[in-house]
Amino acid sequence: MRVAPSILAADPLHMARDIQRMLDAGADWLHVDIMDAHFVPNLSFGPALTAALHRQFPSLPLDVHLMMDNPEGYIDVFCDAGASVLTIHAEIPGDVAALLERIRARGVKAGLSVKPGTPAEAIRRLLPHADMVLVMTVEPGFGGQRFNAGMLGKLDALREMGYTGLLEADGGISLSNVALLRSHGLDVAVMGTAMLGSADPVADMTAIHAL
Ligand code: DX5
Ligand code: ZN
Repeated sequence: MRVAPSILAADPLHMARDIQRMLDAGADWLHVDIMDAHFVPNLSFGPALTAALHRQFPSLPLDVHLMMDNPEGYIDVFCDAGASVLTIHAEIPGDVAALLERIRARGVKAGLSVKPGTPAEAIRRLLPHADMVLVMTVEPGFGGQRFNAGMLGKLDALREMGYTGLLEADGGISLSNVALLRSHGLDVAVMGTAMLGSADPVADMTAIHAL
């Protein structure tokens, strides 16, 4: 299984140092949370930081998670900044299928995220437009929250619908629940607090890669 450490849990004044530590431990992707203080009650990073990360770590795929009500005007901006995966939320107003196809047209993987209250059934018609589904295992907005095990059934439901693309989960993931997620078909684990705060990220990442 792949691991995407989340820079939300990095020390903002030592971000490059913290990311290098994750790279040295074998991070597959880097998860970049973009928050607009409207879709979620928090503010985080923007396109300038994303572009700077891409310049500094050009071989590290950037997994950009847009927690924004109106991502339409930012799809090209984040593709230009160097996103490898660009994820939007199913709960936003507007034509989500068209936005996913706009991401694909840029040669970037299109991700579709669902908050805990959004059932798998609600995105059935959008699945053909998504290269990845990001199942939130906490309410989006903040790191360090408790994993919601009720979301495991959503992973199963997506596979039962015939979805064969990438499955990612985000929120409260640690060594204590990642094997369980894998057994429900997870491909990519986003890990903020648990991986950035790990005393031995090499050992942790090696164990997760073996799942
Ligand atoms: C929450 C973010 C997550 C967050 C996960 O809204 O989408 O990516 O960084 O952090 P942890 O692993 O600490 O729950
Ligand atoms: Zn995220």
